[in-house]
Amino acid sequence: MFLPQPRTNIEKVSPYKPGKPVEEVIRELGLKPPVIKLASNENPLGPSPRAINALRRALNQLHFYPEDTAFYLRQRIARMFKVDYDATIVGNGSVDLIYMACAAYLDPDDELIMSAGGFIAPRVGAAIMNARLTQIPTANYRHNLERMAESITPQTKIIYLDNPINPLGTIVTRKELDEFMECIPDRVLVILDEAYAEYITSREYPRGVDYYNKNHNVLILRTCSKIHGLAGLRIGYGIAKPEIIQSLMKVRLPFNASRAAQIAALAALDDTRHIQRSRRINEAGKALFYKEFKQLKLFYLESYGNFVFVNFAVDAQLVFEALQRQGVITRTLKEYEFPNALRVTVGKENENRRFIKALRTALEILRPPADSETEATGE
Ligand SMILES: Cc1ncc(COP(=O)(O)O)c(C=O)c1O
Repeated sequence: MFLPQPRTNIEKVSPYKPGKPVEEVIRELGLKPPVIKLASNENPLGPSPRAINALRRALNQLHFYPEDTAFYLRQRIARMFKVDYDATIVGNGSVDLIYMACAAYLDPDDELIMSAGGFIAPRVGAAIMNARLTQIPTANYRHNLERMAESITPQTKIIYLDNPINPLGTIVTRKELDEFMECIPDRVLVILDEAYAEYITSREYPRGVDYYNKNHNVLILRTCSKIHGLAGLRIGYGIAKPEIIQSLMKVRLPFNASRAAQIAALAALDDTRHIQRSRRINEAGKALFYKEFKQLKLFYLESYGNFVFVNFAVDAQLVFEALQRQGVITRTLKEYEFPNALRVTVGKENENRRFIKALRTALEILRPPADSETEATGE
């Protein structure tokens, strides 16, 4: 039987594989609840309570299409970052904005540069456009900015930099980014993906909007999926020069941000109490993880996000499965080229403790007794 043929490069696209929802894992493995999911960097405290209240009030408006230009939300974002309204854009999650940037800027054979260990969405975006993808290996678990800058060719159109980098959680510092931006030709769009920015208080962490203010060709991405707890609604936003925003608007699907998502985001951005609580619980959770990983002699990276990269010096699939059998879902990193590591999202205190207990059990089973004497290394 003949089938319509997709565009030739579509054959090569490996679709984004998100973590499975808890319900699906319970069903597939026949696990008994409660199962905890520390796999998708979601906020364990749940959605911003202000967002929930705003949504409740808006439920009887859902028969109306959303505000297509997301006027009120963009106005709020413009005020928050002290930029013009025309410099803002809203997406169906920030991945929507990554895809829009690829669709608007990449001709076939144009090039997108990113880190090999980096977030997966730009790789898919580039593949869909039949663009060239250059992946620069990380150096010491951090973006290798020097190599990235050296790799720029006349075909380079986009450089994608997630800061902090997912799944490693390390950052590019202000000083490093200042130097890097000076080496970037004006014809290149630098996407600064700041999905975890609200968790970070370090002065070393560069704020993308500063580079926008210095007239660089950056697209700054933020999301309501992380600290604001709205991953299920799908809403993210971007800041860039109005000319860049206009190009993105041309490839944007109509009504790409739902009415519910816009209303919830508007309320969540103002919910400082929820943001502060989320930050506090995240810091406490990371401190617990670090202490326990040290005791277990596991190599880990100190993270600026709400997740921690931990390495086992054995195939992490085994650890993943042993944890999963105990009702704890984490994330393997094979597709990020770290087969021996897991990414663990920081949960609530009881969830973190349950994870640690399950990890101890898993390692007892997996590690031969003599191994407990030797230190696990990062490789
Ligand atoms: C670096 C990075 N960017 C973007 C996203 C996705 O954000 P959104 O839910 O807004 O599409 C994630 C989610 O894990 C991420 O880690």
